[in-house]
Amino acid sequence: MKSRTELSPEPVVAVVVAAGSGVRLGAGAPKALREIGGRALVAHAVNALAAGGAARVVVVARTELAEDFGRALAEAPIPWTLVPGGAERSDSVSNGLDEVARVEPSARHVLVHDAARPFVPASVVTAVIEALDAGATAVVPAVPVVDTIRRVDPAPGEETVVDRSRLRAVQTPQGFDLQTLVRAHRFVRSEGLAVTDDAMACEAIGAPVTLVEGARDSLKVTEPFDMELAEAVWYRRRSATAAIE
Ligand code: CTP
Ligand code: MG
Repeated sequence: MKSRTELSPEPVVAVVVAAGSGVRLGAGAPKALREIGGRALVAHAVNALAAGGAARVVVVARTELAEDFGRALAEAPIPWTLVPGGAERSDSVSNGLDEVARVEPSARHVLVHDAARPFVPASVVTAVIEALDAGATAVVPAVPVVDTIRRVDPAPGEETVVDRSRLRAVQTPQGFDLQTLVRAHRFVRSEGLAVTDDAMACEAIGAPVTLVEGARDSLKVTEPFDMELAEAVWYRRRSATAAIE
């Protein structure tokens, strides 16, 4: 079987957005710099991307934290550069994309990942890259929704309980044809559209979105309880590795 580099020689670059203010997580160190097992969340995220096949990473962070991020990423297994964030997540992604074009002019594909999702399994990252290699334009890892979802204040005639079999919770890294994502970001900005993720921006310019299987491990650290869950994921993995060694 051919290796990925033989099939698609361009290195895959990932943008890791870490410039949010972490309001819902609350007081303490900035979210991406919170540590689990002595390592910052952003460093866990970069390790996961590298393990799944990313060759280089652009980390988007608040300028005043540049030194702290530098320390957190000192042992990263792939080259990284740091760029300043913007007011909204999509502004941070745009800044990251500008840097991708600068550091890797031959890049055809890009991954966009939240630093707040430190434990995405390498297999999910690889599945996203493979879908891009197979010709997809925008790729999204997603998992089935397990909760029953109730719509509040439904419109007349609308169901209150939503049919969950047709719902998926969307994760990152999302993968894109780089030029398509750049065009999509320009479009949503010029039209003033509110989008919550990059795949939604691509759909706004008519690009098709491909789903791949996500993973429960890849939880997003949003509220304090999520740190406890993320710690549990980390320590379970650590003990599984120790058992093999
Ligand atoms: N993000 C970013 N730039 C922004 C806003 C968000 O880079 N202006 C990043 C966050 O750092 C995070 C990811 O986007 O890695 C997902 O955002 P979220 O989970 O909402 O994190 P925060 O915006 O930091 O948290 P909160 O909304 O609670 O303030
Ligand atoms: Mg936010």
